[in-house]
Amino acid sequence: MKFPTNRLRRLRYNKILRDMIEDVRINPTDLICPIFIIEGTNIKEPIAAMPGQYRFSVDQAVKLCEELIQNNINSIILFGIPKDKDNTGEISCSSNSIIPKAIEELKNVYGDQIFIIADVCNCEYTTHGHCGTVIDNDVDNDATLKTLSSQSLILAKSGADALAPSDMMDGRVKVIREVLDNNKFEKIPIFPYSVKYSSAFYGPFRDAAKSSPSFGDRKTYQMNFKNSEEAINEVKFDINEGADVVIIKPALSYLDIIYRIKERFNIPIIAYNVSGEYTMVKSASKNDFIDEMETILEILHSIKRSGANAIISYHALDIAKYLRSNEVQ
Ligand code: PBG
Repeated sequence: MKFPTNRLRRLRYNKILRDMIEDVRINPTDLICPIFIIEGTNIKEPIAAMPGQYRFSVDQAVKLCEELIQNNINSIILFGIPKDKDNTGEISCSSNSIIPKAIEELKNVYGDQIFIIADVCNCEYTTHGHCGTVIDNDVDNDATLKTLSSQSLILAKSGADALAPSDMMDGRVKVIREVLDNNKFEKIPIFPYSVKYSSAFYGPFRDAAKSSPSFGDRKTYQMNFKNSEEAINEVKFDINEGADVVIIKPALSYLDIIYRIKERFNIPIIAYNVSGEYTMVKSASKNDFIDEMETILEILHSIKRSGANAIISYHALDIAKYLRSNEVQ
């Protein structure tokens, strides 16, 4: 017998065969597009730290959604940048607040054609930029649960299809599930960011959302990136409290975590390909140091390969357009 017997390259010579035996593929249905909403009308304001991303007034967000739907992306996650902020984020707990109004408007136009995930957190609504009520220089867990649950109820009433608490307070899934169930919203699922690391990769988002903490950092509530067992506990507790899907973020430096959660739990996973990950690709490709589309495809497929069912990504529209233009006719 000739050496070598096993030739793995046999499966790589023909493109049709290569395509046939792929493990994972990206469909536009797997992608969730983040949208930043600001007050006013007819505004589409570029975000300096995220080339190609904008802050949209609701009427412009409506236009963006039309383009998303045309390109087979039917899921969005919304972040609000309000004009006024307060000390606890309570300003978000009103039907006149920026995101409830945006959801109502988008649902009026698109109904079930669009699945709206509402991020639940206080950091965009507090004057100090922290994710909750600050007592003695730290975010108080149990006081913050109150604003999170009122904000959740308002978002549900406005028509949100799912709620994604991103604050990292202990016990929030339980209180949100309770408030939803007690108000006949038992059909609305909760997608907590169960695993949210304290990360430098959120930098451009904080510029976009104007939500940088004015003192200290988020290390007393977001996770330490030197740990992994802790991620398993976070997911375990959130599932016990009623999580329907778990979000893991960031994605790229945490593929090991996605893989471990997938192996261990029977729950769908959404990975968040965060702002810093987006900006790195944009900056490097702008300089022609890497090929933008090839790099994005490799990144998104690696996230799926690690076990994510779906991906929140600022690249969503670009990739959907690319996939559409490459569709076999
Ligand atoms: C709000 C929130 C953040 C992100 C999503 N929800 C920022 C933060 O925790 O500072 C980051 C997303 C991104 O970087 O794209 N708490």
